[in-house]
Amino acid sequence: MSILKITGGKPLSGSIRINGAKNSVLPILAATLINGGVNVLHNCPDLKDVTSAIKILEHLGCKVKREGKTITVDSSVVSRCDVPDSLMREMRSSVIFLGPIIARCGCAVLHTPGGCELGPRPIDLHLSALEKLGVSIENEGGNIVCKAGDMKGRDIILSFPSVGATENIMLAAIACRGATRIINAAREPEIEDLQQFLKKTGASVNGAGGSEISIIGGRAYFDTEHRVMPDRIEAATYLCAAAAAGGDVTVEDCESEHIGTVIERLTEGGADIKVSGRSVRIKVSDRLKSMPPVRTMPYPGFPTDCQSQLMAVACTAKGTTVFTENIFENRYRHTGQLERMGADIKVSGRVAVVEGVERLKGAVVTATDLRGGAALAVAALGAEGCTVIEDIYHIDRGYEKMEQSLASLGADAVREE
Ligand code: UD1
Repeated sequence: MSILKITGGKPLSGSIRINGAKNSVLPILAATLINGGVNVLHNCPDLKDVTSAIKILEHLGCKVKREGKTITVDSSVVSRCDVPDSLMREMRSSVIFLGPIIARCGCAVLHTPGGCELGPRPIDLHLSALEKLGVSIENEGGNIVCKAGDMKGRDIILSFPSVGATENIMLAAIACRGATRIINAAREPEIEDLQQFLKKTGASVNGAGGSEISIIGGRAYFDTEHRVMPDRIEAATYLCAAAAAGGDVTVEDCESEHIGTVIERLTEGGADIKVSGRSVRIKVSDRLKSMPPVRTMPYPGFPTDCQSQLMAVACTAKGTTVFTENIFENRYRHTGQLERMGADIKVSGRVAVVEGVERLKGAVVTATDLRGGAALAVAALGAEGCTVIEDIYHIDRGYEKMEQSLASLGADAVREE
């Protein structure tokens, strides 16, 4: 088992280049199934979930080549339509293959995704939308068995703007006759990136980034080449790291408007942040002050994926910061670990009240989930002494070699086996 050892108290300095977005590359990899052609994807991060998505594509019959940050998927031959249990378990968001497999094969068999560290992960919105589009769905011994009948486009109104459901509907709707409209669609930037990729394949998809997305069905045939958008959550995490440790850090190759809410909160806490083109520079010389209430919301609201990292910053800010988690019910598991480092956090249901303390102290802590693990690294950078983070496989799911990125900014961070 690997651990991450961070000795805190050193300000960070320098610049860091942001990788391609995990939450964008995964649906795009799934979408490569649809065109039956050659898809060249650049700026793909080297993450476990990406490897798992490639394994699923290969299992289905695709030829996949990975050279550095470029992945080429040739989906001319797709010979099966099932994703076995073992592969479903490897990748948390493997349900995103449902829509594209149905669109390509007219049927799909996927093992039911279980819950995860963030609580139950229901897929009712995905399934009911697919049924409306003409897919019959049975649950057979833990498998979701989908058969496409006469798939016809229609209006789908989502009761909640689920990111995964919006993506699955977009992908399945390509196989429908006529027009599909997704109303109350999720507006996350990754959905716009998926739309851009799909348009290059010849699909007619419009409106991503807004609450209404329209798809005109029809086969998408063109070979594509696409560059995956930068990871806004990784960018926000390194800004939080600089805020906790202090220093002068420039995050390069990111879209600042995608993390506007995080920049706003850090600025309100006293960080000096300047945006210039595709880079964001943060300077922090003094202890930050508490921030106005942070409520996680669907995009463009404050991202649930940045809640824990900002909380790590709030732990040593002067005063009280209140967090409300509105997206996932189990997203405060990192608070117990931050408390081991001396943080003062009171959790009641969806609300966490953080009373800033002067300094955190290094401790042995355990990453409880991907972003919670990142929060521990952020906290450790500003803490006194050495922090050992265990179970860093969670962090590895979303951050490429985090210890190297932090070390390049001058942090004392090493991975040990
Ligand atoms: C995506 C992101 C994840 C991020 C989340 C919210 C990927 C690979 N993952 O996850 O990093 O934290 O968006 O921004 O892009 N829900 C239902 N029924 C459904 C689907 C969702 O009740 O059928 C609920 C979920 O339980 C959760 C909420 O909706 O409470 C948000 O989920 P959703 O937007 O679907 O998140 P994901 O697509 O799983």
